[in-house]
Amino acid sequence: MNDKIKLNNIYNHVKETLADAGITDIAEADFLLCEALKINRSELMSKLLTGDNGHNGVLTKQQGRVVNKLLRERAKGRPLDKIVKHKNFYGQEFYVNKNVLSPRKETELLAECVIDFINKHFVGATTPPASQAPLHGGEFIGNLAEASDEAKISSSNSRGVTPASKLIRGPAALPVGRRARVLDLCTGSGCVAITIAKNCKCEVTACDVSKKALAVARKNIKYKISDINGGSCLIKNSPLVKLILSDMFKSLNPKDRFDIIVCNPPYIKSGNIEHLDKEVKDYDPRLSLDGGADGLKFYKIIAGEAHKFLNPNGVLMLEIGFDQAEAVTKLLKNKYKNIEVIKDYGGQDRIVKVKTKK
Ligand SMILES: C[S@@+](CC[C@H](N)C(=O)[O-])C[C@H]1O[C@@H](n2cnc3c(N)ncnc32)[C@H](O)[C@@H]1O
Repeated sequence: MNDKIKLNNIYNHVKETLADAGITDIAEADFLLCEALKINRSELMSKLLTGDNGHNGVLTKQQGRVVNKLLRERAKGRPLDKIVKHKNFYGQEFYVNKNVLSPRKETELLAECVIDFINKHFVGATTPPASQAPLHGGEFIGNLAEASDEAKISSSNSRGVTPASKLIRGPAALPVGRRARVLDLCTGSGCVAITIAKNCKCEVTACDVSKKALAVARKNIKYKISDINGGSCLIKNSPLVKLILSDMFKSLNPKDRFDIIVCNPPYIKSGNIEHLDKEVKDYDPRLSLDGGADGLKFYKIIAGEAHKFLNPNGVLMLEIGFDQAEAVTKLLKNKYKNIEVIKDYGGQDRIVKVKTKK
C-alpha cells in the first residue's frame, strides 16, 4: 500500500486481504475502516459512493497506518472487538479485553427479558429518584394480579373493597418507592448488569470470580466509553451497580435478598472447548467458557443456592446453550415453578426463566 491511497482502493484491499484470510463477512471490512477512520457505517457508505473522505479522497498517513495495523491483526485471526477493545451490546459500546468474554448478541435477549420483567412488575414512573428510594426492605410485586389477590385476602374491608393503601402491604405487594434488586452472577464485562441498570429502575449487584474481569466491569461502569456513533455515556460512577469478587454465591452476604437473579454462566462442556472456533477458544478466557465435564457445573450451583437469595416470588433468568433446556429445567424443577424456556431470534432455546416456589 503506498502513502496516498484512496478510500475506495483501500476498501477493496481490506476486503481482499480479509477474504484471503478466510474472513468473507463484508461487515468486517466496513467495521475495520469505520474504526480506523472514526466514522460510522453510513458515513463510510456515503464516502465510498462519493469517493470523498474529507482529504480529497485520500487517506492520511496516520489513517493508512491504523488500517494496516488493524488489518494485519485481524488477518491473523484475532477478533475485531478484541483488537479495538470495544463491543456493542444493546446499543452501547463496552470496553473489552482478553480477560472477558466479548458480549454476544444472544445475551442481549437475556438483558431484555430482565428489563421487560422489571418494567412490567415494578413501580415505574412513580418510583422516586435513587436518593429517596430505600435500598433494602419492601416487597417484591411478583405478578401484579397475584399480588393484588393476596393483598385482597389479607386486607379487604367488610365490603370486600381493598383500599389502595392496603394493597401495598400484602405478602407479594407493590414495592412503592423501591427499586427492583437484581443479582448478576458471572458478570464478566458487566454488559448485562449495566444494561439492566441503565434501562430500568433497579439496583444491581454484579459478581465474578475473576479480579481481572471485574476490573473491566468497573471500567465500564465508571467511564465514558466513546463509540463511533459519537460517544455514549454508560452510567458514570453509578451507585446502581455494585461489584463483588465472588465465587458464585460464596462471598455474598447471606442476608442479601434479590428480586431477580440473572446469569450467563460458562456453559460449554470442557471437552468441547478445543472444537470451538479459534476466535472463541483462543481469545475468550477459558474461565468464561468452561462449564465443567457436562457443561452444567454452574447451573447445579445455581439450582442449589439461588433460592436462598431470592425474595418471595423472586425470579431466576439464565442463559443456556441451545441443547441444555431439558437438563437445566430438570435441575430447577424442585425449587421453582412457572418454568419457561425462551427462544432466541435464531429459534434456539436460549433462556430459562423460573419463579421461586416460596
Ligand atoms: C459466559 S461469561 C459471561 C459474561 C457476561 N455476563 C456476558 O454475558 O457477556 C461467564 C463469566 O463467569 C465468570 N466465572 C467463571 N467461574 C465463576 C465462578 N466460580 N464464580 C463467579 N463467576 C465465574 C467468568 O469469569 C466470566 O466472566
